[in-house]
Amino acid sequence: MEFKRNILITGGAGFIGSHVVRLFVTKYPDYRIVNLDKLTYAGNLANLKDVEDKPNYEFVKADICDFDEVKNIISRYDIDGIIHLAAESHVDRSIRDPFTFARTNVMGTLSLLQAAKQEWEASASGYEGKRFYHISTDEVYGALQFDGSFFTETTKYDPHSPYSASKAGSDHFVRAFHDTYGMPTLVTNCSNNYGPYQFPEKLIPLFINNIRHNKPLPVYGKGENVRDWLYVVDHARAIDIIFHKGKTAETYNIGGFNEWKNIDLIKVIIKTVDRLLGRPEGASEHLITYVTDRAGHDLRYAIDSTKLKNELGWEPSLQFEEGIEKTVRWYLDNQAWLDQVTSGAYQSYYDKMYGGR
Ligand code: NAD
Ligand code: TYD
Repeated sequence: MEFKRNILITGGAGFIGSHVVRLFVTKYPDYRIVNLDKLTYAGNLANLKDVEDKPNYEFVKADICDFDEVKNIISRYDIDGIIHLAAESHVDRSIRDPFTFARTNVMGTLSLLQAAKQEWEASASGYEGKRFYHISTDEVYGALQFDGSFFTETTKYDPHSPYSASKAGSDHFVRAFHDTYGMPTLVTNCSNNYGPYQFPEKLIPLFINNIRHNKPLPVYGKGENVRDWLYVVDHARAIDIIFHKGKTAETYNIGGFNEWKNIDLIKVIIKTVDRLLGRPEGASEHLITYVTDRAGHDLRYAIDSTKLKNELGWEPSLQFEEGIEKTVRWYLDNQAWLDQVTSGAYQSYYDKMYGGR
């Protein structure tokens, strides 16, 4: 079958990537969607069960750092668009193992850029009709004070964690490929995502699972840090709009205008899980356990996504109350998924981090 477009999505077996793959495979039956993923501890093909048999979907197990293999894949599938999500994504892991983050996030992105450059420059149409879209994070901007300010597209980069430093490095390489070689790239920086299929080492799924199993909830420091939360399906919608309508070489910030202090968010999660499990209100609050703060813990993130709204008409579709209710329900209804992804590698990591709590 001849496809209108051939799009490579990297990291499609991960949390956000699986929502992007699902959206593109179902919304664009005339596009071939190739999901390239190494299937690290964070990648799980169970995230894509509902689309794996679709005729316009292909999965390829590969490492973005494997330059020759990536080049082969771009050539084999005649790829004209790349949506790059593959990354190491957890700040706590980056503090313990920064090399893996530099390797995957910086060197892996460079390998993908160079492979696309060589294939596209050698193709008859060159860069015409091509697009390299890099998914990044608001964490590259550093940390805000409690002063009502926001990160905008022109905020200076000031990463503090090995994770955000490695994402900043990858963002710079993407922009350098545009400025140096004329590659049609663009970058978006998004706030914290939540929703189904997030690996349960991140705050929201970890805490839902722990509340269900009456395990302690390790709150870093005083729980006063602030994050701006966006429902993952809204991020995937933004990626769709920006991939199709965003201007080459531009940066767009994506966020929910939805700031929560960790401890307040945790109380909402506890309330929701207790209610859905039929426990008395506040029954699980005793699980809150204040632990040593994360090293270099960024105080506050908040994204100003006005540019995206004004230029491309994107806005979050879901109110937070609705999103968190859907999310808690999903994790409570999908214990089998949690058991699958928390077996093996994850369990030993969790034991190491939290002494098996
Ligand atoms: P995730 O950790 O859930 O998934 C990452 C995926 O990348 C996994 O499927 C993993 O197997 C794959 N991967 C890792 N190393 C690879 C390699 N070397 N080669 C091929 N595949 C590899 O991450 P996520 O939360 O879905 O984040 C996706 C992207 O979005 C990342 O680039 C992240 O920096 C960015 N981002 C995440 C958030 C968030 O809140 N989760 C917010 C903003 C931006
Ligand atoms: P996380 O989900 O790791 O995302 P990020 O660090 O990329 O923002 O953490 C969200 C917030 O929750 C962050 O301020 C750290 C805090 N946190 C805890 O207090 N306890 C935990 O066990 C985890 C995983 C995070």
